[in-house]
Amino acid sequence: MRETKGTGISRRAFCKTLAGAAVSATVMGSSGKSRASDGNAKRIRVAVVGGNFGATFWWHEHPNCVVTAVTDLIPERRENLVRRYSCLNAFESLEVMLKKAPDTFDAVAVFSGAPEHVKHSVMCMNAGKHVISAVPAALTLEECQLLKETKENTGLKYMMAESSYYRQECIAAREMYQAGKFGNLFYSEVEYYHNFICTYPSQPDVWRYGFPPMLYPTHSTGFFVGVTKERLVEVSCLGTREEPFPRPEENVYRNPFSNEIGLFKTDRGNVCRANVCWRIAAGGERAQWFGTEMSAYMSSSGGLSNSIEIADKGRQPWNVLEYWKTDPSLPERMRHASGHGGSAVFITAEFINALVENREPTIDVYESLAMTTPGIVAHQSALKRGEQLKVPSFDAGPKGT
Ligand SMILES: NC(=O)c1ccc[n+]([C@@H]2O[C@H](COP(=O)([O-])OP(=O)(O)OC[C@H]3O[C@@H](n4cnc5c(N)ncnc54)[C@H](O)[C@@H]3O)[C@@H](O)[C@H]2O)c1
Repeated sequence: MRETKGTGISRRAFCKTLAGAAVSATVMGSSGKSRASDGNAKRIRVAVVGGNFGATFWWHEHPNCVVTAVTDLIPERRENLVRRYSCLNAFESLEVMLKKAPDTFDAVAVFSGAPEHVKHSVMCMNAGKHVISAVPAALTLEECQLLKETKENTGLKYMMAESSYYRQECIAAREMYQAGKFGNLFYSEVEYYHNFICTYPSQPDVWRYGFPPMLYPTHSTGFFVGVTKERLVEVSCLGTREEPFPRPEENVYRNPFSNEIGLFKTDRGNVCRANVCWRIAAGGERAQWFGTEMSAYMSSSGGLSNSIEIADKGRQPWNVLEYWKTDPSLPERMRHASGHGGSAVFITAEFINALVENREPTIDVYESLAMTTPGIVAHQSALKRGEQLKVPSFDAGPKGT
């Protein structure tokens, strides 16, 4: 019986897994979300890059998806992917995978380290593959432009795997916003706190050491752009450096800040305060949205529980649905709890559904860049002691300003 070196998974067991997966089609649900349903439809062949966070998605549970290739530079992580996705087609690098087996996959899940996302995404799209990329989409404005141009020139699909967008509270806030319940939602506070994550040198994710907080903005900005679809067009940002944190001369980014706090103006004249902090006695990804008729507060590590406050009626508990139990965009088999606030199954399903339906994913390249570029400019502002800077647009149409 043939098996992949060191994995203990036989080819027979692998084939059985594939044969057992039902093939079904997806159609649009009444909410505008796609709806999984039975029927005959194509199977999307996905290759996965990165066997750490990249091994936490649910490609193997979607009936219209099969993982046909996996890769990580590190053998243990490669084997992790082989096991997780029952895929024996393992390669020592993305580059080798694209060279040796380009005809075995249609799309690539890029879950390499942040500084490599654009390089890898562009490499894959230029090889004719659709891409889902881990956050952040890009680290510089030049990379944003390259990503946008490559997506537009190739006509392939691109999605950023932003988990805040699919946290259950964010789905609920989006629904309430679309129903007009906030009145005028004029101010939002969005934040991502992860104490010590970029503080100490670690292997193999050396790229995290001293990483500028605002170059990782999307878990914050995703709560804002992901609810109102507004664009953050101006920013003044300040940074602090809390001990212990590598000094600028000690990290490759020359970054002096462990914590960054940005105040943004939006294209509709509203205001958003977005924080990203690596040295803070707090944790989590959360938001609070303030409107003229209603405000909503996500639970916090400080003890706040989910609540809403309605004008004239006061504060009450906010009973957020567990959308993953019933959402029609999720195939039956994927209706279970998953990582990062229930987001992992939604991210997986949305990318595959979009490819099956031949439409752009909800977090397409424009939404991805609208969540990413404000942070890039915010970091520039912090380096200039809070100077108010304009955030260029990377939306569809003429080149950004
Ligand atoms: N909630 C979230 O959305 C969330 C959570 C965790 C991580 N992330 C992001 O996901 C990405 C992956 O996170 P991680 O913690 O696994 O990072 P990591 O640095 O630990 O792992 C990246 C992996 O990519 C592999 N890799 C790099 N270049 C490669 C190549 N050319 N070919 C094959 N493999 C290659 C590396 O060997 C490594 O194992 C990061 O960008 C991170 O920012 C997002």
